[in-house]
Amino acid sequence: MFRTHDCGELRLDNVNESVTLSGWVSNKREMGPFLFMVLYDRYGETQIVFEDSKIIEEAGKCSLEDVVQVTGFVRDRGDNRTDRYKTGDVEVIAEEFILLSKSKPMPYDHRKDTAEAIKLKYRYLDIRKSEVKNYLILRHNITRTVSNYLDKLGFLNIETPILTKSTPEGARDFLVPSRITKHSFYALPQSPQLFKQLLMVGGMDRYYQIAKCFRDEDLRADRQPEFTQIDIEMSFADEDDIMGIAENMIREVFREVKGLDIPEVPLMTYAYAMNNYGSDAPDTRYDMKLITLDPVFENSSFEAFKNAANDESQIIKGIVVEETAEEFSKNKIKRIEKDVQSDGAQGLAFIKNINGEIESPLAKFFSDEEKNALIEKIPVNGTMLLAAGKKNVILKAMGNLRKRMAAEKNLVSNDDYAFVWITEFPAFEYDEENDKWNAVHHPFTDFDLNEALAAKDRSTVLSRAYDLVINGHEVGGGSVRIHDFEKQKEVFKFIGISEEEAKEKFSFLLDGLTFGAPPHCGLAFGLDRLVMLLAGTEAIRDVIAFPKTTSASCLMSEAPSGVTKAQLDELYIKLSE
Ligand code: AMO
Repeated sequence: MFRTHDCGELRLDNVNESVTLSGWVSNKREMGPFLFMVLYDRYGETQIVFEDSKIIEEAGKCSLEDVVQVTGFVRDRGDNRTDRYKTGDVEVIAEEFILLSKSKPMPYDHRKDTAEAIKLKYRYLDIRKSEVKNYLILRHNITRTVSNYLDKLGFLNIETPILTKSTPEGARDFLVPSRITKHSFYALPQSPQLFKQLLMVGGMDRYYQIAKCFRDEDLRADRQPEFTQIDIEMSFADEDDIMGIAENMIREVFREVKGLDIPEVPLMTYAYAMNNYGSDAPDTRYDMKLITLDPVFENSSFEAFKNAANDESQIIKGIVVEETAEEFSKNKIKRIEKDVQSDGAQGLAFIKNINGEIESPLAKFFSDEEKNALIEKIPVNGTMLLAAGKKNVILKAMGNLRKRMAAEKNLVSNDDYAFVWITEFPAFEYDEENDKWNAVHHPFTDFDLNEALAAKDRSTVLSRAYDLVINGHEVGGGSVRIHDFEKQKEVFKFIGISEEEAKEKFSFLLDGLTFGAPPHCGLAFGLDRLVMLLAGTEAIRDVIAFPKTTSASCLMSEAPSGVTKAQLDELYIKLSE
C-alpha cells in the first residue's frame, strides 16, 4: 500500500496512529541530529521528522521534488503547531522511508516571476506547484454542479461526433483529411449545433454535453482554438424557459463554488447595450456610459462635430471620467488618442470642467449654449473624452476606451460580478466586403419572417437570440431555432446561401426538419470563460489543463508539428511551399 492517508489529511485525532504517506518533497532541512522534511500532494502538506540515524542517512540523500513514501506514527507538534498548512497541528515520526521516484532539479523557480513560455513547456510542473491546480479543481466542481443540476431537470448527457462536417459558427474550420475516402476531409465541430437540433428531432427532448469545440480564429485572452462548451438544447420550450433554466444553473454554480447568491439577472436590449456601452457584451460593474452628444453640436461652428451631428450614419460620443482633470496631461491624452485611433476613430477631443469653466483646445469654437450643455454633463474637475465619426467605429472605439479608463481608475474588481442578458439582437448584418447579408448568430436562429420580408432595412429585423454577459465577457449565447423546413430554406436564400450550397452543407439538418421537428431552443456557455471568471483570473489559458499559446501551439507537446512523407502519402496530400 502506498498510503493510508493523503498529505492534507492528518489531524490531532490521528495522534499515535501508524500511517503511511506518499508525496513529493517540498522542503528538507537538518536541525541538530534530526532531519525535517515536508511532503506534499494535491491535498496538502505534512511535516515528517526523521529521528533515527539509519533512516536519516537514506532520507538525507533524496532531493526536492523526489517522490517518497514514509511510514511512521503521528505526533502532536505541541508548542510548534503551525497554521501555515492544514495538518500543522501534527507531524509524522518516520520509521520507514522508500524513494519511489527521482526528480531532476526544477527547470524554474515557481516562486519567482517566470516567463509564461517556460511554464507552458513544463505545464505539468505548473499544475503541481501553482494556482493552476486549484483552478482545475474549481473547474471540476463547476462541471459537477452543472451536470447534477441538469440531470435533476431531466437533461441527458449525449455525445456528438468530433469528426464531422463543417458547422457554420462563423470561424474557420480545422480540417482532418480522410485516408479511406480519397480527397475528402472531416471538419472538427465549431459546436455541436446541428447535432443537438437533430437530437430534438430524435425526440430526446432535453440534451446537454460538456462539449469540445474547435475554431480556427485569431486568439485573445478569452479565446482558445479548442475550448469547451456547456451545450444545452430543449424541445417544446421558448426563450423564457431556456433563459430561466440557464440562469438558475449559473445561480447554482455561483452558490456552490463561491457561496454567492445572484439576484435576478436584468435584461438589456442589444440596441441599448451598443448605444450606452459601445459593446454587445457590456461590463456593467461600473457606470461611465457613453453619452450621445449629437444634439449639443447640431449648430456647432466646429465643422467636424456639426457634420457628424447632422449625418444619420455618424455619431458623437463622449465618456466622463470623474475627478481627473489634472491627471489628463497632454501626453496622457495623446497616448489615449492613439488607442482610439487604432480602433479606427480619427481623433479624440477632451473637455475639462475646471471649477465650472470649460477648458479645451476646442472651447474657442463653442457657443455659450454648447458650453452650458457640456458643463452640465461634466462634474467639477472631471474630464469628458469625445470622438465623432462613423457610428459603428465610434461605438466600438469609445466602448473600448470606457473599458480602459475603468481599468486605469481601478473601477473594477475581479471579486465583483455583474450579470446581464442581452436580447433583441439584429438577425442580419451587412457584410460590406462581400456585399451580402450574414446571419448575426448562426443561420438556424428564429426571427419573424413576415417582418423581414416587409422590412425596408434588413438590419432592423430582430432575432430570437440571447447572450449572457458577466463582467463584460460573453459567457453564453443561444437562440430559439427555426423548426420549419420552408422557413429555414428561406433564411438560406436571405443570406445568400444557394439551395445547392445549403444541401451540400446542411442537407442532414434540412432533411431532419422535414420529419416533424418539435419547436426547440438552446444555448451554450463557454465553460473556460465561466471558470476564468469564477477563478478571478484574466485569461482562459489559466483554467485549461494544457492550453495553447496565442499562436495556437502547445509548447509542451510541440503541436502542431510536421508529419512523415509516408503519412502524407496515405492521405493523398502533397505539401506546397
Ligand atoms: P457561440 O458561438 O456564441 O454559440 O458560443 C457559445 C459560447 O462559447 C464561448 N466561446 C469561446 N470560448 C473560448 N474560446 C473561443 N474561441 C470561443 N468561442 C466561443 C463563448 C460563447 O458565448 N452553437 C451556438 C450556441 C447555441 O446557439 O446554442 C454557439 O456555439 O462563451
